[in-house]
Amino acid sequence: MRVAVCASGGGSNLQALLDALPQGAPARVVLVLSDRGDAGALERARRAGVPAEVLADPRDPTEWLTRLGRRDVDLVVLAGFLKLVPAPVVAAFRGRLVNIHPALLPRHGGPGMYGRRVHAAVLAAGDAESGATVHLVDEEYDHGAPLAQARVPVRPDDTPESLAARVLEAEHRLLPAVVLAAAGAGHPVPLEPSTFDLRPSA
Ligand code: GRF
Repeated sequence: MRVAVCASGGGSNLQALLDALPQGAPARVVLVLSDRGDAGALERARRAGVPAEVLADPRDPTEWLTRLGRRDVDLVVLAGFLKLVPAPVVAAFRGRLVNIHPALLPRHGGPGMYGRRVHAAVLAAGDAESGATVHLVDEEYDHGAPLAQARVPVRPDDTPESLAARVLEAEHRLLPAVVLAAAGAGHPVPLEPSTFDLRPSA
């Protein structure tokens, strides 16, 4: 399965995928796309020998479809990609386009809910747990059908930063599991928690 990863930031989820997909794995990252030329994800891609491209206009569906088509992409993974994917791209990749969100959707998602704000909202709500969700992408932010969730506890002394770090670890287990399962099935499929939710011992 030929995977494109779209990222606006540091790309630790991209790195988790690259690390989980050695030569000969059933899925391979063949393209990294960013809306920002300074995204750390681009550097991680280059280091791994993966083509890294910057979208000149992230609102232009033709540019997206040309870049994805050129690499024969089967699955698109949004991993910290902050722009809305143009509707014609969502339509062309319906059922083959997933996003990872750092909370237990449908809680704490939607427009403007990204980064530190998500974890601050979880703490403000007094939630006992948080986690990561991988879901199919539709035309709305953080809205499509969920495929898998990894849960982590919220601790009484958590700050948005400490919670973010715990959730990020869960993301790094969850995302490769979803991509490997998709490669096995030929398309993204819902996952049982037992296949990825091995909690850290600490
Ligand atoms: C992750 O928390 C992801 O869930 C969110 O943005 C963050 C990206 O982190 N959508 P990274 O760039 O993968 O390190």
